[in-house]
Amino acid sequence: MIYAAVLAGGTGTRMGADLPKQFLEFAGKPVIIHTTAKFLIHEDIDKVIVVTPQEWVSYTEDLLAGYFGDDSRIITAAGGETRNETLMNAIAAIEQDGGLDDDTIIVTHDAVRPFVTERMISENIRMAEEMGACETAFPATDTIVETEDGKTVMAVPDRSRLWMVQTPQTFRAKKLRDLYLSLTEEEKEVLTDAARIYIMKGRSVGIVRGESSNIKITYPDDIRIAEAISCK
Ligand code: CTP
Repeated sequence: MIYAAVLAGGTGTRMGADLPKQFLEFAGKPVIIHTTAKFLIHEDIDKVIVVTPQEWVSYTEDLLAGYFGDDSRIITAAGGETRNETLMNAIAAIEQDGGLDDDTIIVTHDAVRPFVTERMISENIRMAEEMGACETAFPATDTIVETEDGKTVMAVPDRSRLWMVQTPQTFRAKKLRDLYLSLTEEEKEVLTDAARIYIMKGRSVGIVRGESSNIKITYPDDIRIAEAISCK
């Protein structure tokens, strides 16, 4: 089985809106609806798990039912304190659904990246089946500097070797869970994203080429940028 996990367990502190940014609207629909639709229409995806903060689960269920009706391919679940805990809750939901075995693929995606494409999803699935883990990334467009205090530059890494990580990130779900459970608390603390678990354990992570339009809605301006992209 191939599951998509739409990760919407955050509260959007940088957006500073009255409700979590995944529920804000652009082009006439909430962000989370644009994103969930991309997975529901993809022919390789069997089920879509939508994970939101506990207190937003019933709001999300009503919202999804309003747009997609009574679709048995949609499963909702409560998120966790961190993005990785939210992801583990999505894997627990797969287990509850009876779908977790060695071949199960989970395509994890930020709910706030509504411009994911059919190609990115297909290539993620193919590469995860081949390599066990992959992530979407795009070559860095700006020069990136390293600093400790935000005041002085410590190093300027060679831009040609730097790629910006986007999502989807896609894994064999059971392996991902087992690797996560094998981490120490200290290892979990430095874990910025799930693909890093594989790097920590000396495993390979494939790269699927992203797009500059695959933006993450983070700040208020990003909603206006999303409107502009969707008018293209
Ligand atoms: N996310 C999640 N569970 C968490 C935290 C984040 O599923 N405990 C999700 C967010 O909902 C979002 C994605 O991970 O879709 C990327 O995270 P980010 O942009 O940092 O979202 P927020 O945590 O909501 O934003 P902020 O950091 O501004 O509070």
